[in-house]
Amino acid sequence: TRRISVNDIAAATERGEKWPMLTAYDAMTASVFDEAGIPVMLVGDSMGNCHLGYETTVPVTMDEMTILSAAVVRGTKRALVVADLPFGAYQEGPVQALRNATRLVKDAGVGAVKLEGGERSHEQIRLLVEAGIPVMGHIGLTPQSVNTMGYRVQGRGEEAAQQLLRDAKAVQDAGAFAVVLELVPAELAAEVTRTLHIPTVGIGAGPDTDAQVLVWTDMAGLTGGKVPRFTKQYANLRQVLANAAKEYAEEVVGGTFPAAEHTFH
Ligand code: KIV
Ligand code: NA
Repeated sequence: TRRISVNDIAAATERGEKWPMLTAYDAMTASVFDEAGIPVMLVGDSMGNCHLGYETTVPVTMDEMTILSAAVVRGTKRALVVADLPFGAYQEGPVQALRNATRLVKDAGVGAVKLEGGERSHEQIRLLVEAGIPVMGHIGLTPQSVNTMGYRVQGRGEEAAQQLLRDAKAVQDAGAFAVVLELVPAELAAEVTRTLHIPTVGIGAGPDTDAQVLVWTDMAGLTGGKVPRFTKQYANLRQVLANAAKEYAEEVVGGTFPAAEHTFH
């Protein structure tokens, strides 16, 4: 079986099929999602918060992104693997973006990269696409800019909505194959989706985008504490894992594990 390509993704959207994307940060979890039929896996820089223990996505490095992206590629057979360019890996300009994206493609084996920003990133997107690297854009809330924009709904009000539409068109015109819309009003996400021919991938952007993406630890209920309102928890992995750990600990302390069937003589 060959891997899903950006052309397959575009074709699915053209047929009117909605498609799901999930983040993944390790080979084992990625293999579960791959076998479950998730067609696009994002090695998001949300690994900062969800896997590496940072407060934000800002500290994530190219080394971390490369190692975990390679793991996700190794854990999958079918999925298109998309890796985020971390903060500081493309802001200097298109040449820096190409150098780092090339590393993710050659050393980690990903099929595409994602970077944040619309008009402000169009030169980076264009050079990558010209070099043969598929690019997914990311506009609306862009968490790498948390220190200037915070974490709030973007594109509210006429001026901000017009800017979001300009950003979406800039991403498309630069050659991106898809664009993430994060935390924007559903009506605006629907308008962007009608305006663009490339697929829109919503997170906190309502039901009318061409695709959806969720952070896997949020959707599986592994994340501790508060999760954003736009997330749905499809499982309670945190509880399941805690129960398993407690039961194991009790059985070790109580001397009932290991039992005869776990023991060699
Ligand atoms: O890093 C990430 O997980 C993302 C998605 C939320 C789109 O960028
Ligand atoms: Na990200």
